[in-house]
Amino acid sequence: MLRSLTSRPSLAALSLLTAASFASIGAQEKPAPAQLTVDPAKIVSPVSPMLYGMMTEEINHAFDGGLYAELISNRTFRPIFYGIDRWELVREGNADAHFEIDKSSGPSTALPTSVKLTVASAAQGSEAGLSNVGYWGVPLRPHTTYKGSFYAKVDDAAVGPVTARLINDKTGVQLAEAHVTLKAGPWSQYEFTLITGAIAPSQANHFELTVAHPGTVWFQLVSLMPPTYRNTPNGNRIDLMEKMAALHPHFLRLPGGNYLEGDRLEDWYNWKQTIGPLVDRPGHQAPWTYWSTDGLGLLEFLEWCEDLKIEPVLAVYAGYALHGDHINPGKDLQPYVQSAIDEVQYVTGDVSTKWGAQRAKDGHPTPFPLHYIEIGNEDWFDKSGSYDARFAQFAKALRQAYPQYKLIATTPVPKSDAQPDVVDDHYYKLPSEMMDFVHHYDKVSRTSGPKIFVGEWASMAGSPTPNFGAALGDAAFMTGLERNSDLIVMASYAPLLVNVNPGALQWTPDLIGYDALNSYASPSYYAQSLFAGHIGDGTPESSISGAGNRFFYSVTLDSKTGVLHLKLVNASSAEQPMTIDLKGLEQPHMASIYWLHGGSYEATNSITEPNLIIPKQTYERITGETWQHTVPALSIQVIDIPTH
Ligand code: AHR
Repeated sequence: MLRSLTSRPSLAALSLLTAASFASIGAQEKPAPAQLTVDPAKIVSPVSPMLYGMMTEEINHAFDGGLYAELISNRTFRPIFYGIDRWELVREGNADAHFEIDKSSGPSTALPTSVKLTVASAAQGSEAGLSNVGYWGVPLRPHTTYKGSFYAKVDDAAVGPVTARLINDKTGVQLAEAHVTLKAGPWSQYEFTLITGAIAPSQANHFELTVAHPGTVWFQLVSLMPPTYRNTPNGNRIDLMEKMAALHPHFLRLPGGNYLEGDRLEDWYNWKQTIGPLVDRPGHQAPWTYWSTDGLGLLEFLEWCEDLKIEPVLAVYAGYALHGDHINPGKDLQPYVQSAIDEVQYVTGDVSTKWGAQRAKDGHPTPFPLHYIEIGNEDWFDKSGSYDARFAQFAKALRQAYPQYKLIATTPVPKSDAQPDVVDDHYYKLPSEMMDFVHHYDKVSRTSGPKIFVGEWASMAGSPTPNFGAALGDAAFMTGLERNSDLIVMASYAPLLVNVNPGALQWTPDLIGYDALNSYASPSYYAQSLFAGHIGDGTPESSISGAGNRFFYSVTLDSKTGVLHLKLVNASSAEQPMTIDLKGLEQPHMASIYWLHGGSYEATNSITEPNLIIPKQTYERITGETWQHTVPALSIQVIDIPTH
């Protein structure tokens, strides 16, 4: 049974730790030194250049109420059983008004309805209108510009102007204001800007649209955007993009996950309805219980990849719904196959192609890089056995249209007359199970069969984000990924993002947590960031003996820099002394040690304590081939050792 360390040093003290003080932590048990031997001159297998990446989907308010920077929730006025979700009527003073859904008028075919605000009486200081609570608040920062817009229709402009305001929930104080003059006639889009002053950052705010005269206004698609990553219009939250960049990913598996499939056949990810102007995107029912605006649509996924200098792993819908239905292979499936072919053209085609031209019209003439296409998601759930034939139909058509891309199957397809280049394996396991699973791929045959994509994996402990025990399980698992990266071409943890507000999440644990204003990284995030940020292109010959049964390691070499990257994971409550034999390392070298430590398996970071477990850096001098090193209890160490 694991014990918490009895006397844990302060975080400040930890950052100053030397080799000697490392050895004193967890000193209650003194195992004999393990012997680790590494021969950097003998590379036994390659490391995939794309090994570490990210997987995403709309779950836990990952996009709406998360990465997608939109601040207005339910911006298209979708009704629920008692009203219009997240919206309320504003009636200041003696103003008299009501609002209702009007199913007969909207600004586009995609958005055919609207909210109708009828104002019987209103005046300056006694205004009437609508208020929106945002996604668990409207986050505001000082001296910041927020760009807003809405569609409106009025028969008589005298009801206006419309005033847009940001108001603090606790004080009722107005933090920013803008006026918009209306024009009578058909639906038009109006824009406004709200600029905050010297306010304290907070998320306890709401947004209002009001008028000061009697009359009627129809509203639809109300939007408010804060500054975004790289100032991209309709773009992403800056803090979350920065955290993803610091994970050192090489790819993004998109758009899901179950989000690709939907609960029912009609809920499939129909990418053509997620591109173009927002007013032409109807949104769709996503499987994780809530509506997706598709404001973060296919082009935004691709621009997200571009911003992070990574490439998409494009999952195409393959005709299976989560409730168990499937589209029959053959003519019924053909429209979906054609949709996939069109989708790949939208991603990669030049502007002379139909869908490449559409992408250019949508604002991105340059094609995106692509190497991998995944057909479906988790089709082992399809108990009808139709995936073999569905995969074959997609594979034949895609290979004919695009022979250059590698195809990923979501499960082996023994009865299919087309075989995948790669199979996607998923693992969600307790940390202890994950540790017992670390050597799984060591035994898999290299002589035949497809490569492996571990497209979803996580050690399941901690909520809403993984605790340190999960980080230990994850780090242990990653040593297996690295050692077997001749076979495992890519791997991505899942899920990536979670809005930690009550009611916002459907799955736990998740790698990065946030509320409307702040975000934090979990211990597992830091483990991944360290592993992915310190990885070579080859695995040298190595062996270990005498280590505890909760000790794991991997070693890679960067052939360009000559730096050896050693990963040492001690998931035990006892320290692990080691004699590390680095063959051929004759001169003294300084090793850089990145150390992640938790006081117990249960220790974790949270939105209120984001920095409890963060990597510390220290150095140790290695004087020759043999290095005496101790890995403290409950520790993940990533060590860079220059070899020349
Ligand atoms: O990552 C959460 C879910 O787990 C994914 O949507 C699905 O593919 C898997 O079952």
